[in-house]
Amino acid sequence: IDLYQPQRRNSGGIDLSSESALRAVHAAFDAAMATDWNAAPLLAMEAEPGGAQPVRNPANREDIVGCVHEPSERDVDAALCAARAWEADAAQRASVLRRAADLFEAHRHELMLLAIREAGKTLANALGEVREAADFLRYYAGMAEADDTAQALGIAVCISPWNFPLAIFTGQLAAALAAGNAVLAKPAEQTPLIAMRATQLLFEAGVPRTALQLLPGRGESVGARLVLDARVDAVLFTGSTEVAQGINRLLARRTVDEGREIALIAETGGQNALIADSTALPEQLVQDALASAFDSAGQRCSALRLLCVQEEIGETVVKMLKGAMRELVIGDPASLATDVGPVIDEDAQRALQGHVERMRAAGKAVHQADLPDACGAGSFFAPTLIEIDAVSELTQEVFGPVLHLLRYRHEDLPHLLDAIHATGYGLTMGVHSRIDATVEDIAGKAHVGNLYVNRNIIGAVVGAQPFGGEGKSGTGPKAGGPLYLKRLQRDGQWQGGA
Ligand code: NAD
Ligand code: ALA
Repeated sequence: IDLYQPQRRNSGGIDLSSESALRAVHAAFDAAMATDWNAAPLLAMEAEPGGAQPVRNPANREDIVGCVHEPSERDVDAALCAARAWEADAAQRASVLRRAADLFEAHRHELMLLAIREAGKTLANALGEVREAADFLRYYAGMAEADDTAQALGIAVCISPWNFPLAIFTGQLAAALAAGNAVLAKPAEQTPLIAMRATQLLFEAGVPRTALQLLPGRGESVGARLVLDARVDAVLFTGSTEVAQGINRLLARRTVDEGREIALIAETGGQNALIADSTALPEQLVQDALASAFDSAGQRCSALRLLCVQEEIGETVVKMLKGAMRELVIGDPASLATDVGPVIDEDAQRALQGHVERMRAAGKAVHQADLPDACGAGSFFAPTLIEIDAVSELTQEVFGPVLHLLRYRHEDLPHLLDAIHATGYGLTMGVHSRIDATVEDIAGKAHVGNLYVNRNIIGAVVGAQPFGGEGKSGTGPKAGGPLYLKRLQRDGQWQGGA
């Protein structure tokens, strides 16, 4: 099996630094603004969904992007009854998925506009969504072809988060479909519209309606109902650790009741740290920490939550970080100049505010960037730096643009790693050092899925940097990696691991 697919190319995207390309993007956005986006269950038969709920733009709550009709109980059951594993052989499935990747690229402007208006993605992040989604489609197509004897598991439920509303939504179902399964896709409540467009493009590419159905409903009702159904053979979940643990418990109960294993791939949260010793280059470190913590308004599972700086460079780094934070452009995500867009909704905004207030009350030094007045129309949160004294002060994932900084003494490095491991998470980690032995030592001991050296810690590239965590951060196998499909196939011989 050619695991590395040397002939495959990652999606090329658009050169946003070209003025004419940027003008073309905005002209296409203007043209697409008139679209009446309406997400409803896309089933193999006619649906009978509930009434319309508005989908709001997180950057401007007055802006209604479209509406969503949630599936009824009857719709969920009908989808389960109609689901059929994709009968086509691996080469045919791969060809359809590659056609879908081409269609995603051809419709990139519309998809980008949805990622911006529905999920608050910046322009560059919105483009990244389309590219990553196309990459997943082509990568898993290649993987299916490489092992065309494997059998599908059956019905796979794909439950995805809002923070990669196209890339992760597509990645999950591309893998499950490439392996020949029937997919019931349940996107996040906040982002049903882009999921609906992606599903329509997959149909246009040739995915049969019985092999892919969309159920844009709530997690606690539609998601939980699907996970519990005895007809479901696999669950692909990306989201919070707490919800994944609940799903794991439900599936364990099903295993006892049904006397069979139900496959679960869970990709969850992180408490990601970057360790910088005194040989780190402060300019490089600050640039990488800033991107890791505040890109996507900190709403990446891979984002930097804890910057650990050796005390000798602590003061310099804090001063430079504060200066750099003053330069961040916060606001309209559709503008190329914007570095930090909104957080997803008011609940997220409140949770972040609560965390910062608790830290202030505990006497921690808090530094926040200024929020422009125009941000009042949306759910924005000012990029924030909080100095803490111990890793144990971070009890749960803080999902937004909040970076914690800890100064450590050289002799405390082994304890620092132990403390990071004690959080139980193991998603991403960074090391900044010019001493090879230090890098090798940390890399050898770190319990994380993705470790980055002397660079930022976000933006894993499909096929090149398989992505996924351990411990409370995920079950494996890694997304965009050679073992992912095997977990979704009957004779896939997945033995655990990355
Ligand atoms: P979430 O757990 O609240 O929701 C994720 C999905 O689960 C949504 O579709 C939601 O509707 C559904 N859901 C909620 N309750 C459910 C239930 N009881 N049964 C079944 N489904 C249910 O997470 P979120 O807020 O959408 O996303 C942010 C989280 O996702 C963060 O913790 C982030 O770290 C994590 N994440 C992880 C990765 C990764 O690759 N490891 C990638 C992106 C996001
Ligand atoms: N795969 C995404 C990243 O690496 C989550 O940032």
